[in-house]
Amino acid sequence: MALVVLILLQLLLWWPPPTTAISSTVSTAKTGCQKKCGSVTVPYPFGLDDDPISCYRERFKLHCNRSLDPPILYIGNIEVLEISLLPAQLRVLNYIGYDCYNSTSGNDKGFPSFKVNSRPFTFSDTRNRFTVIGCDNFARITGFNGRNFTSGCSMICNDQQSGFINGSCSGIGCCQTSIPKGFKSFKLYINSYHNHTDVLVFNPCAYAFLVDSEWYNFSVSDLGGYMDFYNRNRENVPMVLDWAIENYTCETVSRIDPSYACRSNSQCFNSPNGRGYLCNCSLGYQGNPYLDDGCQDIDECADEAMNECKSPLAVCTNTPGSYTCYCPSGTVGDGRKTGTGCTAIQGKRSPVMQIALGISFGILVVLFIGSWIYWGIEKRNQSKRKEMFFQQNGGLLLKQQLSSCDGNEEIAKIFTEEELKKATNNYDETRILGRGGYGIVYQGFLPNNRKVAIKKSKIMDENQVEQFINEVVVLSQINHKNVVKLLGCCLEAEVPLLVYEFITNGTLFHHIHDEGHKYSISWDDRLRIASETAAALAYLHSAASPPIIHRDVKSANILLDDNYMAKVSDFGASRLIPSDKIQVTTLVQGTLGYLDPEYFHTSRLTEKSDVYSFGIVLVELLTGRKALDFDRPENEKNLATHFVTSMKEENVLVILEDRVLQEASEDQLKEVTNLANRCLSVKGEERPTMKEVAMELEGLRRYSKHPWVEHNHEEAECLLGQSSNLHSCKADEYDSLKDRVVISLDSGR
Ligand SMILES: *[C@@H]1O[C@H](CO)[C@@H](O)[C@H](O)[C@H]1NC(C)=O
Ligand SMILES: *[C@@H]1O[C@H](CO)[C@@H](O)[C@H](O)[C@H]1NC(C)=O
Ligand SMILES: *[C@@H]1O[C@H](CO)[C@@H](O)[C@H](O)[C@H]1NC(C)=O
Ligand SMILES: *[C@@H]1O[C@H](CO)[C@@H](O)[C@H](O)[C@H]1NC(C)=O
Ligand SMILES: *[C@@H]1O[C@H](CO)[C@@H](O)[C@H](O)[C@H]1NC(C)=O
Ligand SMILES: *[C@@H]1O[C@H](CO)[C@@H](O)[C@H](O)[C@H]1NC(C)=O
Ligand SMILES: *[C@@H]1O[C@H](CO)[C@@H](O)[C@H](O)[C@H]1NC(C)=O
Ligand SMILES: *[C@@H]1O[C@H](CO)[C@@H](O)[C@H](O)[C@H]1NC(C)=O
Repeated sequence: MALVVLILLQLLLWWPPPTTAISSTVSTAKTGCQKKCGSVTVPYPFGLDDDPISCYRERFKLHCNRSLDPPILYIGNIEVLEISLLPAQLRVLNYIGYDCYNSTSGNDKGFPSFKVNSRPFTFSDTRNRFTVIGCDNFARITGFNGRNFTSGCSMICNDQQSGFINGSCSGIGCCQTSIPKGFKSFKLYINSYHNHTDVLVFNPCAYAFLVDSEWYNFSVSDLGGYMDFYNRNRENVPMVLDWAIENYTCETVSRIDPSYACRSNSQCFNSPNGRGYLCNCSLGYQGNPYLDDGCQDIDECADEAMNECKSPLAVCTNTPGSYTCYCPSGTVGDGRKTGTGCTAIQGKRSPVMQIALGISFGILVVLFIGSWIYWGIEKRNQSKRKEMFFQQNGGLLLKQQLSSCDGNEEIAKIFTEEELKKATNNYDETRILGRGGYGIVYQGFLPNNRKVAIKKSKIMDENQVEQFINEVVVLSQINHKNVVKLLGCCLEAEVPLLVYEFITNGTLFHHIHDEGHKYSISWDDRLRIASETAAALAYLHSAASPPIIHRDVKSANILLDDNYMAKVSDFGASRLIPSDKIQVTTLVQGTLGYLDPEYFHTSRLTEKSDVYSFGIVLVELLTGRKALDFDRPENEKNLATHFVTSMKEENVLVILEDRVLQEASEDQLKEVTNLANRCLSVKGEERPTMKEVAMELEGLRRYSKHPWVEHNHEEAECLLGQSSNLHSCKADEYDSLKDRVVISLDSGR
């Protein structure tokens, strides 16, 4: 098997990996910049001053005088002969210092100084020698700007037969000395011991200069003649300068600074002479490391000398920065060895190999077909599953319902699973608004950027499918400003998903009970919220056809928008009452503390059950107390009982919230407490209808002495665990499923 894998690998390797383009003419200057001055090439970072400023690095600007023939390259007034990047050097012309004597007139001296202070240059210590020619002299060089030093030569030779040797500068007529690193200017000084009187015949002049040691070769003839050497060389000798990118070292330079000189595929190294750093293309690359893409991959395979792929059979493949060498299929061995490197596999093995090849291809084909079939089946299963869920979740029923009331586009949209996945960013954790026993509510965005709340329900009980569909159909047809709008649902998923309009400000429960929010709603707002809620319930009871009973009215199911406008939500338990009946018998459902005692005992559901629950909400608004609170003393645990008792004992004011007492008028308090008391009547028929409640509250509001007060829209967050039924309140906002107390099993329609 290992062999098969090996062969497969080799087969794969037959297809050569992509190689980067190799340019044989590695550009050394920036594109669009002059590359030469006369015969001197000018590589970046150097550039010519008649080019744009981007053609050179600061302080690497050169001048080309093209009016001369041939053109001459200058740096300041120094003539440049050659520039190289590695080693980083310049060859320039340097003046010759001289001290000449003749018999008739005195002497003639000239020893200039040389400065590169303002340039990123130093005198190369490896290439240059301080050289003195003469037979009756002392000469010295003094370096500044860096390490100060003075060094020199002193020579006296008696006569022409002293033993001068061409090519040997070793102290007789010629003397050389090394210089230290890192200085930027120097001065020369020459003087004679005896005014050349004894040697004037063969040596009238002494010369001193710093020179490229590879260039200067002492010749005996350099000693003779008045200024002959000086004139022959046209006053100058070549000298070598080291350059560097000042002033950082590789350790201190910032590699992310745009002025960092070393570009792609290059390395930094410190200047061998003085301050600064230099760049070098990485191994396997060549070119100008100071240019973007200046370092280009070397095609090692193109030149036998550059690779170790010596076997004639071996296949050499160039890779960025390197190359690979391997024996082609049908041969084995080490491609780097000459001759015996790659040897053909013996004929006998060949059929085995072919069988192995055949088998491996067979396996590949089987694997491919297998996975293709698996994928196909999986896809079919998936759509089958979706179809099943759709039916199981009552999709057909819903479709039927929807088609029976055609022409109404406002009716719930059926979303696909994909749409909702996309809307919630695949049910992303950060999108969760709340969670509880019933499921999770996510914040989502529809493609038109509409913000929605998406509830992912608990697994559905099949018996409740019809009811669920009813809710979807009913809710999607209700259009009341104080009822939260259901936009649609998705039945393809395992559990149904419901899509609601997004209500921004949390629940009423949160605003009246949660820590930090108590006393946050003004009396006017409380009255309005009560009035709006009552109006919504009245609408459900009378205007909707057939009438709808909410069955779970509580402060946690009343949402508030930014303007504290009430939106009744959560119709999971709601029931339709056929128009020919005024009551139905059902499973008792609701939240403890809000449950109508009559309904609790008889299981007979009427609109008055909602009135009772609303009465509790009204008392919550008045007292700021929770419907059921086990932290309160025994007789105060149940808010309804406590309130009704207080009313009877006529000391209801004691339990009202301070803000309510301050802001509400006496009349209003009297009316509202009375109204709440009537709503909480034990007998259903003694309770007012929702319509009466709504009208009464609306009337109170209209005659309110207090003008409308605009609210500060505080950003309210919904806290977990504060609600009496232990749900997270935000999640509760959208809870339309079956997470309630179910007391009797007497179910009917
Ligand atoms: C070029 O060199 C000549 C002779 O040294 C000089 O007169 C002229 O000004 C130079 N031109 C430029 C552009 O430097
Ligand atoms: C002496 O120097 C003068 C100028 O300084 C020069 O003209 C003359 O040729 C020199 N004499 C000899 C013998 O070289
Ligand atoms: C080098 O010499 C110059 C000129 O004499 C002087 O100004 C400078 O302080 C000296 N530098 C050092 C490091 O000695
Ligand atoms: C030294 O070289 C010069 C020419 O470069 C030649 O004229 C001279 O004879 C040579 N002298 C010796 C001693 O080799
Ligand atoms: C210097 O000259 C001598 C004799 O003329 C010769 O042998 C030698 O190769 C020369 N050296 C260089 C570096 O040119
Ligand atoms: C050398 O010449 C100078 C003037 O040119 C003179 O002052 C000096 O004394 C002379 N030195 C010797 C040793 O002749
Ligand atoms: C490097 O430092 C020297 C001395 O501090 C300064 O003169 C020169 O301008 C600096 N060079 C750069 C490129 O900053
Ligand atoms: C520059 O890089 C080449 C190849 O990576 C290497 O051989 C050479 O030694 C390096 N030169 C310096 C001065 O680092």
